[in-house]
Amino acid sequence: MALILGIESSCDDTSAAVLSNRTMLSNVTANQQVHQKYGGVVPELASRAHQQNIIPVIHEALSMAGVTKNDLNAVAFTRGPGLLGSLLVGASFAKAFALALDIPLIEVDHMMAHILAHFIQLPDEKKALPRFPFLCLTVSGGHTQIVLVNDYFDMTIVGQTIDDAAGETFDKAAKIMGLPYPGGPMIDKLAQQGDPNLFEFPEPQVAGFNYSFSGLKTSFLYFLRDQLKHDPDFIQKNKYHLSASLQAVIIRILLKKLKQASDHFKINEIAIAGGVSANSALRNAIEESKQKWGWNTYMPQFQFTTDNAAMIAITGYFKYINKNFTNQKTTPYARGGF
Ligand code: KG4
Ligand code: ZN
Repeated sequence: MALILGIESSCDDTSAAVLSNRTMLSNVTANQQVHQKYGGVVPELASRAHQQNIIPVIHEALSMAGVTKNDLNAVAFTRGPGLLGSLLVGASFAKAFALALDIPLIEVDHMMAHILAHFIQLPDEKKALPRFPFLCLTVSGGHTQIVLVNDYFDMTIVGQTIDDAAGETFDKAAKIMGLPYPGGPMIDKLAQQGDPNLFEFPEPQVAGFNYSFSGLKTSFLYFLRDQLKHDPDFIQKNKYHLSASLQAVIIRILLKKLKQASDHFKINEIAIAGGVSANSALRNAIEESKQKWGWNTYMPQFQFTTDNAAMIAITGYFKYINKNFTNQKTTPYARGGF
């Protein structure tokens, strides 16, 4: 049995988790409220908040798991991609911890971890696991990717956004509407009371399985600017319909390329991952595609959609059994990855 501590600090969540093999014993996250009033993550403030949060969060994760640091077999941390100052806090802590405890240090790619989150097991949980090869639509604040997953560590990005990410589009549209950051969950909530067909926004034409969202963001902005000239209360009066219509087009765009990739690779094992995979309308659309297209679909539990350390720990576990360790010389990376 291997006890793995996972540490995630790539953006604005400080998170620590303990897994016993694939079984999650704890998953503790401190969200940083400090960014809300700025309408986005302020990197310098994020690093400082990680500094404050990291020791209490790890302490809590160990105690909730009912283990002590001396029971750990390895420490896994997010090496990248993400904000460098934020990553440094988790990486430095993990290095020091592994050195002090004389246990292996494991570096994890954040985007790979979002996908491998599907393999986390909760105690007494019975669920089907994705079967290789599967396609994963990874949709977060910084990324939108279709990944062909042949094995745990054999993944290829077959399509990705050429500009904004899907989560970023939710967040920017929310900001235009005067909603707080992060806007995705808010739009999701408002959309439930709106008409998704009331307003029409254009779908981009992009080659292959790639995505583009910047045109949609701009047309949303211009549409509102024009409407506000006639009616200064337009957003307030239409916030439900605007949210529903925008969300609907984002999901149509996401699903269209995912379906094309599924047809092309002849793969009907389909997973979604990342912060936007918490979106209720996206989850409904994926659920419907089971019937419509004969897909076997895999959606992460809500706690594993947005950034969390359990996904770092599960990736760490698979690396641990392969003895894929790193050393004290490792440094974080802001971009790129697996
Ligand atoms: O994976 P994540 O926690 O962080 C990154 O690695 O980026 O994703 C955060 C993103 C944000 O853009 C947030 O607005 C979006 O996920 N998000 C949602 C929902 N919950 C989170 N977007 C749409 N609907 C949601 N329910
Ligand atoms: Zn993420």
